[in-house]
Amino acid sequence: MTQMRENEEIIDRAQIDDLEAIMAVVNTDWDEPGHDVPSAYDTHFTWNYEKGERPKLDKLYEKAKRSQWNAQTDLPWDTEVDQEELVRANAIANGGFTQGIDVTGTPLEAWGDAEWLQFGVESQNWTLSQFMHGEQGALICTARIVESVPWIDAKYYAATQVVDEARHVEVFSKYLDEKLSGHYPINAHLRLLLDDIITDTRWDMTYLGMQIMVEGLALAAFGFMHQMTTEPLLKQLLRYVMSDEARHVAFGVLSLQEYYEELSAAEIRERQEFAFEAAVRMRDRFLQQEVWEKMGVDPKAVVPLLLDIPERQMFQTMLFSKIVPNCKKLGLLDAADGWLRTKFTELGCIGFEDWEDTGAEYESLQATPESDALAS
Ligand SMILES: [Fe+2]
Ligand SMILES: [Fe+2]
Repeated sequence: MTQMRENEEIIDRAQIDDLEAIMAVVNTDWDEPGHDVPSAYDTHFTWNYEKGERPKLDKLYEKAKRSQWNAQTDLPWDTEVDQEELVRANAIANGGFTQGIDVTGTPLEAWGDAEWLQFGVESQNWTLSQFMHGEQGALICTARIVESVPWIDAKYYAATQVVDEARHVEVFSKYLDEKLSGHYPINAHLRLLLDDIITDTRWDMTYLGMQIMVEGLALAAFGFMHQMTTEPLLKQLLRYVMSDEARHVAFGVLSLQEYYEELSAAEIRERQEFAFEAAVRMRDRFLQQEVWEKMGVDPKAVVPLLLDIPERQMFQTMLFSKIVPNCKKLGLLDAADGWLRTKFTELGCIGFEDWEDTGAEYESLQATPESDALAS
């Protein structure tokens, strides 16, 4: 009999939408130059070098070797980026800075165009900083997978992903330094999640946390930004990163599908709880509490207001458009009495269950400097 764990135990609060509890999670060591996470996991040597025993992983590996790009030389870094002008144009396209919400009686009532512009700029600095930190998480997790996964085809593939992720950290860091106007430390909720993934010693949990949850969300978020941005350098950068990310998510789906077939109901339930916890942490981080604090506004006074904007709600749930179908493909939604289905229903994202999963999406998202040259 699987032991029932309640929300308090999994996400440290009883109600998913308890704003007090969400905002109480903050980093206190922002001045530290780094952060150590202890973990005692097994590094696995395999003596079976039979390449192609897992044909889908082998195909992905061959594809990855042909799809490398260079963050320094394949992007138009000489593009001029006027961050404020982009924020202004974006606001005009979306019905003004307040997007029609009534800010009467809130700290935002006193804001003029200057404050809203600054907020837009800070918000972009924050978003790209979190992408960069998340990419470092991916770099570290994928290096871990090289060590711990038992199959040679997966070790080969994961090695290519290590290079991809190094490039992603590099490219977001360069964009922040050269085109934007400030870095943010890692968001407290994102850090909790990355620490949880790295602390777990089971090799498949690294995959579930990173390839399925974090990268599934990243793929959706990059796609959204790629569609919305009018800045050509960022658009191209995101296109290259997304074409890599689609392979990474496929790697997770293809690897875990096989492994989950061997697991007991109790073991599957642990994976479901882990997926739910990750989903909540990622949702919490999008409240951008650090940006509000920087603007001198108590996040608790404004976040409820923002949660009511329909476009924001749509964006929040869209972030799960890859995660939910992939969890379904892995059998995680309905196993163990459908526990995860119930939780995703509470989170309001179950509607994506029949969207296309990401097992093969990398074929259509393929982008390399060569393919771009052919297309133009
Ligand atoms: Fe990445
Ligand atoms: Fe990735």
